[in-house]
Amino acid sequence: MEKRRILVTSALPNANGSIHLGHLMEHIQTDIWIRFQRMRGHECIYVCADDTHGTATMLRAEELGITPEKLIEEVNAEHRSDFNGFMISHDNYYSTHSEENKALSEQIYNRLVEAKQIKTRSVDQLYDPEKEMFLADRFIVGTCPKCKTEGQYGDNCEACGATYDATDLINPVSKLSGATPVLKESTHYFFALSNFTDFLTKWTRSGTLQVQVTNKLSEWLDAGLQDWDISRDAPYFGFEIPGAPGKYFYVWLDAPIGYMAAFQKHCEANDLIFDDFWKKDSTCEVHHFIGKDIINFHALFWPAMLDTAGYRTPTRVHAHGFATINGLKMSKSRGTFINARTYLDHLDPEYLRYYFAAKMSGGVDDLDINLDDFVQRVNSDVVGKVVNIASRCAGFINKQFDGQLAPTSDNPILAEFSSASDDIALHYENSDYGKALRDIMALADKANQYIDEHKPWVLIKEEDKRHLVQQVCSDGLNFYRLLVTYLKPVLPRLAEKSEAFLGIAPLVWGDLDTRLTGHTINKFKPLMTRIEPEKVAAIVNASMAAEEPAVIAEPESPTIEFDDFAKVDLRIVKIVKAEHVEGADKLLQLTLDLGDDTTRNVFAGIKAAYNPENLVGKLTVMVANLAPRKMKFGMSEGMVLAAGPGGEEIYLLEPDNGAHPGMKVS
Ligand code: 2FM
Ligand code: ZN
Repeated sequence: MEKRRILVTSALPNANGSIHLGHLMEHIQTDIWIRFQRMRGHECIYVCADDTHGTATMLRAEELGITPEKLIEEVNAEHRSDFNGFMISHDNYYSTHSEENKALSEQIYNRLVEAKQIKTRSVDQLYDPEKEMFLADRFIVGTCPKCKTEGQYGDNCEACGATYDATDLINPVSKLSGATPVLKESTHYFFALSNFTDFLTKWTRSGTLQVQVTNKLSEWLDAGLQDWDISRDAPYFGFEIPGAPGKYFYVWLDAPIGYMAAFQKHCEANDLIFDDFWKKDSTCEVHHFIGKDIINFHALFWPAMLDTAGYRTPTRVHAHGFATINGLKMSKSRGTFINARTYLDHLDPEYLRYYFAAKMSGGVDDLDINLDDFVQRVNSDVVGKVVNIASRCAGFINKQFDGQLAPTSDNPILAEFSSASDDIALHYENSDYGKALRDIMALADKANQYIDEHKPWVLIKEEDKRHLVQQVCSDGLNFYRLLVTYLKPVLPRLAEKSEAFLGIAPLVWGDLDTRLTGHTINKFKPLMTRIEPEKVAAIVNASMAAEEPAVIAEPESPTIEFDDFAKVDLRIVKIVKAEHVEGADKLLQLTLDLGDDTTRNVFAGIKAAYNPENLVGKLTVMVANLAPRKMKFGMSEGMVLAAGPGGEEIYLLEPDNGAHPGMKVS
């Protein structure tokens, strides 16, 4: 096998918050891939960094009364220790606020200028006269120009789904100061992405992306590419644009360049040549692991910029879906917005590594962490099946044979174990860890079955069968050694402890063809214990305590007469279909069964809280006689009832057991 030279990155976590299960899902996915490649003998370098720039960092530092530099330094230390806790094997975890990143960002920008791909244009934007800064949409609230609902953000309305420009809001207010924003003109710098349609059409179809991603991008490419605004006005925490005083690179310009900068720093410390990996015709590989929400940055802007600046483009972009917990978006009030540190305070990181891996397929679908399933799966697979083999066999070998394994081992089941290696390797290569683990657990079942059939605990009672006990248990430990080799990318600590117990050098993929014979093992120490469900409950509790939900006392509405209430026809309905709405950030499209063979189409602003797959089959309550409303995405024929202030804090009403579709609610 030819030795590959591979550079790998995970998306850069923002420097204004803690590492949570969402980040871990991605870093664990990446880390498993990297450890697999390293075990195969390839050179595989893993870099990442904190994404430090932008308004959010600036405002957060201001809130805390410290400089942005101080903030990002503290957060960086926290992030490093969290990732370490989960055994994420970054070769360099850096920061985008580095001299290397500044130099590379300027160099790439200058090359874009030389290539005449940077344009300037005057832009009118809302400006906070008190804070003296331009306002991004999320910092402006006002009344929806369409349905007149108050308290809507600058880009779209949660109530009616309308999208608009912040300048269309009625009575806009700056969230930063409460001042009324004013329109102000400013010169912005644009990267001429619209010139790259042909290049990107070809690039996105060249096998660098998953099929679903290519298809999604085709839609965007067909719709036409817009030039990309890469400048922000002062005050902004970032790098000033060369030759443009008071203008800064938009954070998304220097963020991916941060991958290169982190790698450059690593090269300097390790005598590697940066250009080997980044020059145009490089035979080394560059892989980015990212969430599906940032595909446009990695598969449009990034390759176009790199190519124009004279660098190679990525070999592959591996996109994944989002993590949900018990079928719902992570939520602070439900205690499922779980930070890395909170998890580590209670549980072994390898449990989570295993569970994530078991559910990963290499696709872009969301991944649900069901907390009961998590406990059950890890306990039954890793502890019940795999570790069990070692503990069953080691006792006999240690106590009865002085730790000495049988002199030969030609059990045909071992040959079967070894010959699974190509399939398992292919699953790892494709990030289809779920399949890899299913194959590995099927082998573990075989090993246990073999031991069950040969019953060493019975054989040991007959003096003339003692040698058989040694053979069965030695074979058992050889099964175990191969299983641990296969599992090592996912469970590096279990592998390390097993190597110590077996008294062997670090396991690599090539070891799958060898057997451990005539060798003396060490004393067995418990390798992994079962997850206690109380620990999971403690994590949920601690996550809830960390952040109390803000309960806003809503004033009671004016009294109405019974007749007014009776006009509202409330019905139990069944959600028979739930789907994302193309282009809508907050809405899901629901098909509701009213129990009389009729269905209704309703748009509900519950996307932040619910994964549509988990809604199908649920009963809820709807206002059945609400006049249909025409929305941007279609006609909404009624309304479902939900409680809460909105966003991820929204809870659909569910009837008690026994209710069925069509029942009137009174
Ligand atoms: O989405 C995010 O959290 C960004 N900080 C990811 C940046 S990835 C890269 F391109 F820098
Ligand atoms: Zn509206």
